[in-house]
Amino acid sequence: MSTLSSLLRDRIDEQGPLPFSTFMDLALYHPDLGFYATSGQAGRRGDFVTSVEVGPLFGQVMADYLDRLWTELGRPAPFTIVDAGAGPGTLARTIRAAGPACAEALDYVAVERSAHQRSQHPDGIRSLPDLPTAPIVGAIVANELLDNLAFEIVHWDIEVGFRQVAVMVDSAGEFAEVLTPTEFNDPAFDPGEARSARLVWQPAATRWLQTALDLVERGRVLVLDYTNRSVYADHRAASPIRTYRDHRSGSGPLDRPGEQDITADVQVRDLIAVEPPALIATQADWLRANGIDDLVAEGKRVWADRAGIGDLAALKARSRIGEAEALLDPDGLGAFTVLEWRR
Ligand SMILES: C[S@@+](CC[C@H](N)C(=O)[O-])C[C@H]1O[C@@H](n2cnc3c(N)ncnc32)[C@H](O)[C@@H]1O
Repeated sequence: MSTLSSLLRDRIDEQGPLPFSTFMDLALYHPDLGFYATSGQAGRRGDFVTSVEVGPLFGQVMADYLDRLWTELGRPAPFTIVDAGAGPGTLARTIRAAGPACAEALDYVAVERSAHQRSQHPDGIRSLPDLPTAPIVGAIVANELLDNLAFEIVHWDIEVGFRQVAVMVDSAGEFAEVLTPTEFNDPAFDPGEARSARLVWQPAATRWLQTALDLVERGRVLVLDYTNRSVYADHRAASPIRTYRDHRSGSGPLDRPGEQDITADVQVRDLIAVEPPALIATQADWLRANGIDDLVAEGKRVWADRAGIGDLAALKARSRIGEAEALLDPDGLGAFTVLEWRR
């Protein structure tokens, strides 16, 4: 059976060095051997925990946000929610469990590239591999999608300027970097005292945002992700790229393709260049503005009343308090960025 590494080696033999984005795209999304086709799974037992997978609370806040939007738009039917990069469909399940008023008009579209993850989507929603093409009234929500779209690694040094990383096979048969010409340029780039720097360039993320904005006739595009507000804040670090496997940091991005997640902070400046958002907030502030404190207060009341009984309602209420701590954590999910564009 061919492995992803052997497949990538064959590809490099035939075509020469692959742009890093091509290598990353295959490592994550090869339909049979990619990380998201096999092991890659958000969730408590998976490789990472997203806000959606912390528990039902995030979906409850999102359901309230959608109800307010539905009312503001004049209660349209259908009211389409596109959950972009939906993973196994957990957000759809938790929004439904919250019982929002907009449910009567809701057309929930879970867009997920991986067939393996699509197969886990719940009944009663539309499950698609790509964004729909017809304009929508409603919202496109992308939680931790853009950081996972294949990006380029740009290398700058004082002698040559910008080049981008491509992947070749070295004499020992290992994947190795080679620097190749790039279309990336930024006349405003300021490396300070540094003689070399590494940048993440995310043309796929900016293309995705433009497509999403074009799709929404009336409503919102909501992006939630870890971001680096200033593009070059970490340019002196060895590499701005991170990898994850089994809840732990993985190894270098060229190691063990298909066995680890590859990600980088979303570069907010590039998204703003597509169109300035109406709102940029931390996830903690956004959750508070959308009612998380009331939901937690309710959970505390129920827990105080029912802790002695210890029934399911009591346990759910206690879980809500713990979930809020994780979602608001200023050193974790609470520090994520929420960007909202309005139509
Ligand atoms: C980090 S997971 C986030 C899943 C979910 N949104 C959550 O918050 O738990 C990113 C998901 O986006 C999917 N994905 C990546 N590129 C995509 C694309 N172009 N269109 C749709 N889904 C995509 C991946 O397969 C993966 O399931």
